[in-house]
Amino acid sequence: MKIFLDTANIEHIRHGVRLGVVTGVTTNPSLVSREGKVNYRKLVQKICSIVSGPVSTEVLGQDVQTMVAEAREIAKWAENIVVKIPASLEGVEATSVLASENIKVNFTLCFTLNQALLGAAAGATFISPFVGRLDDIGEDGMKVVADIVEYLDYYQLPTQVIAASIRHPQHCLMAAKVGAHIATMPYEVLLQMIRHPLTDIGIERFRDDWKKVMAREKLL
Ligand code: G3P
Repeated sequence: MKIFLDTANIEHIRHGVRLGVVTGVTTNPSLVSREGKVNYRKLVQKICSIVSGPVSTEVLGQDVQTMVAEAREIAKWAENIVVKIPASLEGVEATSVLASENIKVNFTLCFTLNQALLGAAAGATFISPFVGRLDDIGEDGMKVVADIVEYLDYYQLPTQVIAASIRHPQHCLMAAKVGAHIATMPYEVLLQMIRHPLTDIGIERFRDDWKKVMAREKLL
């Protein structure tokens, strides 16, 4: 499973790339707004220059024409850009148009297998089921991810699943277990994935024991 960062924060993206594990980024208007006063296009282009893999960014239009026009513009921003189109009826049509022009679409705000089915049929490169938001309303977000993965696999469709709206490390490992191609997560969750108290205790213990070895060597 590939790891993407769900953020528009340049420092966090730089760190993820330095770690050698982050291969893509997803953004949305809420994440961009957290970065304060920024030029949207310049910020996204900066992100695209830091990460070699796909960088998803969202259209704001709601009708087909506006979405398609926005997406065509956004697609020119960088080689690795992917346009996020919402899983609405208009979004399905916009996805079909964009896919026929070889513009990569991330079919986003997806909450059901039926939505995913239509997104894949329309030619979306990625489908993003929002796990956390489904869990928030008492549904099983990861079950939707699992169902979409199974469906795409059964019919050998090329669309890839991005497990999105990831809230904690447990979501990451469940996404990997059900075969999501990608998990996109907040920076904090990426940091949490590596943390374990027994690792910290182990490192500390090895250091202390090594100090003892060095101290004894000095006495020889
Ligand atoms: O990738 C989708 C994500 O940005 C939504 O996350 O936590 O707002 O549901 P959240």
